[in-house]
Formats: sequence, C-alpha cells, structure tokens
Amino acid sequence: MEEVITTIESPIDVMYLLHKAFRAQSERVEKLAAQGEAGGDLTEFKAAFEFWIKQLLYHATVEDKHMTAPLTGSQAARDNEAEHAELVVHGTGVVDFLAKGDTAGLSDNVKAAMAALEQEQHQELVAKAQEVEEVLKRAIGEEKVVARTRRNLYRRVMALRVLEFDHFENEEAFVLPLVRESMPLQELSVVKHLLLDPEASDPRWIIDWVASELTPQERQLLAALEGRFEEVATAGD
Ligand SMILES: [Fe+2]
Repeated sequence: MEEVITTIESPIDVMYLLHKAFRAQSERVEKLAAQGEAGGDLTEFKAAFEFWIKQLLYHATVEDKHMTAPLTGSQAARDNEAEHAELVVHGTGVVDFLAKGDTAGLSDNVKAAMAALEQEQHQELVAKAQEVEEVLKRAIGEEKVVARTRRNLYRRVMALRVLEFDHFENEEAFVLPLVRESMPLQELSVVKHLLLDPEASDPRWIIDWVASELTPQERQLLAALEGRFEEVATAGD
C-alpha cells in the first residue's frame, strides 16, 4: 500500500505527492498492459499510457530547467538529468512499438526468422522484413503473433515503470536534500512550475491530476501549498 504523506515541511516536499501520483498512474498503465496480454482492445491502455508519458515529459523538462540546472557543480543533479533522458528513450521506445501495431513483437524476432528462412532456402523472402512477418504469421498464426506482441508491450511498459520508480527514489534521496539546502528561495517557484503550466489552455492539467490521485488529507496539503503561489513573483522566476 502507498504511504500517506502527512506533512509538507518545505515546498519541494510536494514532490512526494507528485511522485505518488505518477506511481498510481504508471501502475494503472501496467495493469492495463497486463490485461492487454490476453488480447482485446488497447484503447484504454493507449489513453492512460499517453497521459502518463505527457505528464512525465512535462515533469522531467521542468525539473531539468528549473530544479537541477541551477544546481551547477552537482553530480547528483547531472545524474538526475541523465535518468530523465533514459526515461524519455524508454518511453519513446514504447510509443514506437505501439505505432507498429500488433505485429511489432516480430521485429525483435526477425533475426531468428531470417536464419530459419535461410535454412529453408527462402532467401528471396529475407530481404523484406514485412514479408518475413507474413511468413511468421502464417507459420505461427495471427493470434500468436498478437499474443507475442502484447507480451512484449507488457514487458516494455513494466521496464519503464521500474526505471521510473528507481529514478524517483534516487531523486528523493539525492536531489531533494540539495534543493532544500541550496535553493530555499527558489523552491516555491520550482514547485509552481511543476504544478501549473501557464502555456497550456488549461494551466491546471497537472495539479488537478495530482490532486485526483491523493487522499483528502494530502489534497489539503496540496491546496495549502497552492495558496502560497502568490508569494512567487509573476515576472520571471
Ligand atoms: Fe520528480
């Protein structure tokens, strides 16, 4: 069970609430991917996955720009940025995989298929991966192709979720203490950037989602913090 967060001592502690929301969303996506393994429609999975990635990209971008960029000379800050880049690569990998549809699982197996085809002296088929897929579909059956793709999708989503959880732990252990120590005056501004997106048609698309993932008590902590955003100068940071 997720722990309940009872206090926010320093503005940046709101990160625990944000990370909690991310964990809830990613676990939901992973569950939907697991259900998708059995076949069926992926519409709900896709919507939940896209929302997760959209939030994650915004979160990582704002942290890089407003939270860790000012921490010059800190290896922990650079590691945090590198982990963000790694998350983006993995997330993009899942997006590409999804874009290929239900034959995507085959591309990982094309090599093995090519070797098998060569043995059968069907070299003319080897040239085109698409044809290889057709042959494989015939060989192992469309349903199995779908099942294989869905297994791969689940594995990739789970890997992304694990990477994300590890990253949150690292950030909480190594970066947040630095933020509290080194930038006490900017903390509230960083947090405001993390929760509100002034560029968006709905600037509250992050904070409202975070609130939706929290307990009533945690929602109060978030609202109290939001009440302090007026302290942040509106011009610049
Ligand atoms: Fe974070």
